[in-house]
Formats: sequence, structure tokens, C-alpha cells
Amino acid sequence: AHQWRGVIREYAERLPVDENTRVITLGEGGTPLVHAQKLSELTGNTVYLKVEGMNPTGSFKDRGMTMAMTAAVQAGAQAVVCASTGNTSASAAAYATSAGLRCAVLVPEGKIAMGKLSQAIAHGATLLQVDGNFDDCLEIARKLNEAYPVFLVNSVNPARIEGQKTGSFEVVDALGDAPDIHILPVGNAGNISAYWKGYKEYAAPFQSATAGELPAVATKTPVMWGFQAAGAAPFVAGHPITHPETIATAIRIGNPASWDTAVAARDESGGVIEAVTDEQILDAHRWLSSKEGVFVEPGSAAGVAGLIKKHAAGEVPTGKTIVITVTGHGLKDPQWALRTEDGSDVTPVKVANDVVSVAAALGLEG
Ligand code: F0G
Repeated sequence: AHQWRGVIREYAERLPVDENTRVITLGEGGTPLVHAQKLSELTGNTVYLKVEGMNPTGSFKDRGMTMAMTAAVQAGAQAVVCASTGNTSASAAAYATSAGLRCAVLVPEGKIAMGKLSQAIAHGATLLQVDGNFDDCLEIARKLNEAYPVFLVNSVNPARIEGQKTGSFEVVDALGDAPDIHILPVGNAGNISAYWKGYKEYAAPFQSATAGELPAVATKTPVMWGFQAAGAAPFVAGHPITHPETIATAIRIGNPASWDTAVAARDESGGVIEAVTDEQILDAHRWLSSKEGVFVEPGSAAGVAGLIKKHAAGEVPTGKTIVITVTGHGLKDPQWALRTEDGSDVTPVKVANDVVSVAAALGLEG
């Protein structure tokens, strides 16, 4: 029986590792590409969701973290640090534990989801809540890395991007070629940069350090569409945002580290980076859970919100293959499911402890 071996072992020929590398893995990657029936019907396309919430810690960050932690061990690091809106810290904490390294995480105080906070603590990270936003946390983490013996595992570390590019490889391997359009949420902009790198590498012969020249796997690259939350949309503004605000805390980022590579992904692919409102994000979040059967955290729904927005504006072609990366699991930040469309709380119905009462509550007749 074949068991998925994690992205480093599955794609070793295309990653900066060799047979002597001590691989730190929790079995990440190999995530499902789910056919989104209702989005396909709505837009007249074949739409798939790359469900990254199925990774070991519940987000796409694990693809990058297996590489970053492997690099940390290779560098002889004793401790790692990251800034995070939550998912990176959850992932770093888990992979550091697996590697036997100390882990410190810097998060914006009061602005990370409970599930993510719990994960970092459960895995034994030293969690510091900074009186500032993500961008402040990242600046401190970078300075810490420069002046102290701690290894930085944010996506400014190229190892992270190398790991995350495997998302594209899996999409192409599943579909037999690249999709026409690839959509994803954009925060610190590492992931859109990584996907674009992966698609480009798969569409051309690749010079492998360990396996010689590998032939192209895909015949084309997709158009990349990125979506930011409207209150935290520096790429739309064309400059950093000092006070980013959105309910989608995962992408509450005003000064993305991977600015140039994200702009290159947009422009080289002929794509766009646009904004969606918090309301559009929550509508898409509800669409995914109630129509497709896929539960994601709000930030993860930004790509779907973008597709629906552009479809309504008549800006989506038909007959295409479209892949949307939904980046993190709904259980990370479950509170949003317990609110109705008009913002009131959902209260589960209480019933007496007998079958007749339950049948009546269900409207069943015997
Ligand atoms: N979706 C989720 C669920 C995220 O956690 C993030 C980023 C993104 C999308 C955006 O990806 O930064 O590569 O453009 N989360 C980081 C973190 C910032 O700290 O967990 P990006």
C-alpha cells in the first residue's frame, strides 16, 4: 500500500535536498482537489478547490514549514522564530517539536483565531503577543534573526517558498496539465509567489541538482488571480497599508514581505490582484460550507469571494478550468459559522430526551 510521504520526499528531485538531508515532515501535502459543483454551475467553468485545510496542522503553511524546519536542522539551529497571523505559528510550533527545536512565535495581540493560538501553545512554542500588527511582528522577527542565534521560518526564508511551490505540482499532477486560472487569497504574498514559481518550473525543462534535466510536466502556466481583504489591500492601493483591518485575521497584513515576486506572478501570468470586502468574504465562507461541503476559515474564502465577485461583474470567462486554493481549515476559527447572514447568533434548538419530541422538532410524521 502506498502512503503519501510528505512533499519533500514526493518532490525531492525538484527541491534543494539530497539523500543525506534529515527530513522533518509530518506527512504534509497530498491534499484533495475537490470539484466545486455549485461554483462550476454558477460560473460555467470547471472549478476545483485545493483543500489545504487537510494538511497536518490545518493550513498550507505545512508545505513550507517542512522545508524551513529541514533547513533549520541542516543549519544546526537550536531555536526558530516566526511572526504570524496564526497559521504559520501553529505550523512552526508543530514542526519545531518534531525537529526537537525550541520555537518562539510573535503574534498580534488579540488578532489571532483561538484554534491557531491553541495549536502553538499545545505544541509547546513560546508565544508572545505583541502590542502591534503582523507587520510589526515580522519586523521584530527579522531583527531578532539578524542579531540573535534564532532561525527565521517566515516566508522571507526561501526554503518556505520552495516547499509551498509543491501546491502547483500537485494540481498539475491531478489535472494532467495546469489550469487556465489559479485563484488564491493574498496576505504576506508568499503563497502566490510560491504557486507561480511551481507552475513555471513545471512548464519548462527543470535542471535538478540530484536527477539531471527533467522534462516539462505541464504545457502551459495559469493566469494568477489573487484577492486581498479590502481593508488590507496594499497591492490594490499600490503601497503598504499602515493600519490593515479585516475580520479575516489570517490576511490582516499591510506590508507584504514578498511584494516583488507577487507583482511578478500577477504581471507575468497576465493576472490580477484585487480586493473583496469582509461581507463578500463571509458570503463566500458560507457558500463553501453550505453549498460545497467544504469548511474553511474566513481568510481562506477570499479567493472564492473574488471569483463570485468577478463573475457578477461579467469578468469571468466560461468553459475554463479554474483552481482555487482554500488555505486553512474552518475549525481554526469556527465562530463565524455560528452567525447568521444578518449577523445574529445561531442557537441550536433544545429538545426533550425522547424520540417523539425529536421527531416533532424535525417536522417528521409517523
Ligand atoms: N490564508 C490563510 C489561512 C493564511 O493563514 C494566510 C497567511 C494566507 C491565506 C495568505 O498567504 O501570506 O502567503 O499571502 N498567513 C500567514 C500566517 C501570514 O502568519 O499564518 P500569504
